[in-house]
Amino acid sequence: MNQPVTGFSKKSKAEKIEWLAKNYLQNNPESIQILRDYWNENDSIQQLHDDFIENTLSNYYLPFAVAPNFLINEKMYAIPMVTEESSVVAAASNAAKFWMERGGFKAEVISTEKNGQIHFNYFGSEKSINSFFETVKSKLRASIESIEKNMKKRGGGLLDISLVDKSHILDGFFYIHATFETLDAMGANFINSCLEQMAHTFEEEAATFEAFSKENEFPEVIMSILSNYVPECLVRAEVSCNVSELATSGFTGNQFAEKFVRAIEIAKTETRRAVTHNKGIMNGVDAVVLATGNDFRAVEAGVHAYAARNSYYSSLTHAKIEDGIFTFWIEIPLAVGTIGGLTSLHPLTKLAFEILQKPNAKELMKILAVAGLAQNFAAVRSLITTGIQKGHMKMHLMNILNQMHASKEEKQNALSHFETRAVSHNAVVQFLEKLRN
Ligand code: MEV
Repeated sequence: MNQPVTGFSKKSKAEKIEWLAKNYLQNNPESIQILRDYWNENDSIQQLHDDFIENTLSNYYLPFAVAPNFLINEKMYAIPMVTEESSVVAAASNAAKFWMERGGFKAEVISTEKNGQIHFNYFGSEKSINSFFETVKSKLRASIESIEKNMKKRGGGLLDISLVDKSHILDGFFYIHATFETLDAMGANFINSCLEQMAHTFEEEAATFEAFSKENEFPEVIMSILSNYVPECLVRAEVSCNVSELATSGFTGNQFAEKFVRAIEIAKTETRRAVTHNKGIMNGVDAVVLATGNDFRAVEAGVHAYAARNSYYSSLTHAKIEDGIFTFWIEIPLAVGTIGGLTSLHPLTKLAFEILQKPNAKELMKILAVAGLAQNFAAVRSLITTGIQKGHMKMHLMNILNQMHASKEEKQNALSHFETRAVSHNAVVQFLEKLRN
């Protein structure tokens, strides 16, 4: 069995690799070389990546691409996307072009409120906790004055705090619900700092509150943390056109529109479909969240919770046909930032913001919602017409060729061969074997 290691994080990068190679890689020089192959030759870029997290040994590349021709609220965008899935960018680009020719995307931010909670135990009387909260409310606000100063100057900060009694669900469970406006910052650090300071003040004040002393029951803070569930930070994006403009090979516009709406209804009704449907939406959203250095886990968690807000998991997109007009829209919660965090630290995220013409957080929310809607349109369009595999396997062809170490010439040959033929792993293997013989 391999021995545990102490003080690993204090070792130099070379020492860490040496330890890893000895204990887990049979000292294989090829494995060590893989780590080295992905080091950046620019020392300052490498140092930046080394410093992002602890114990960095190498860099893990994902492709950075753009999907052009997005017309959003009458403005053209090329949207940067970071993803490993072969068909995502192609699908986004196709959908962008399709809707550019039909008036483009309309997007609007509905609300921008973030929130966090101070969770605490309290087993005393309802009257005492209510009167304590009323007394302490202004002191909690005052206690975060210095943390809030800069955010307030820019027009943001703490919006409100309220007391929530959840003791009917979990014995003794209460929380303080705090709402925030964090403007162009995602605001996680700001919110958490405010909450922790308020929690401290809350406990300090509680210790000397007379009613609690009399009852000998004091609230006890369990934890203070922002919530990644942000249903009050919502964005909506939409496309619409006359159904006749949806005609495609083998389908009249009306047939296509009806089948499309039916596919959305299925995703609204059936969780098994809804999860995959929403996964397709997140193919687009996550790729842009990653390209812009935002927290994709936070976005994912919040979006899926929103999809289940009515106590069952459902589609995030909606579609209808009314008076011959097809309308397709998405509404999702997105807490993202255009300042702070990785956004100004990673050279490629900085570049992504330049490509997007330096959007503020509200504009970024719109772009993300559009990316999700476009991706979903492309996926559902394929599903209800040709099936998903045709396009998917075309894009996957290059991965199969790379797996088989195909040369440049072999790749060119394969691309033209499969131009008119169905791609499957087997078919590509056979084609290459034939070519190589
Ligand atoms: C694949 O990554 C995404 C899809 O499965 C989405 C969908 O089914 O709607 C194609």
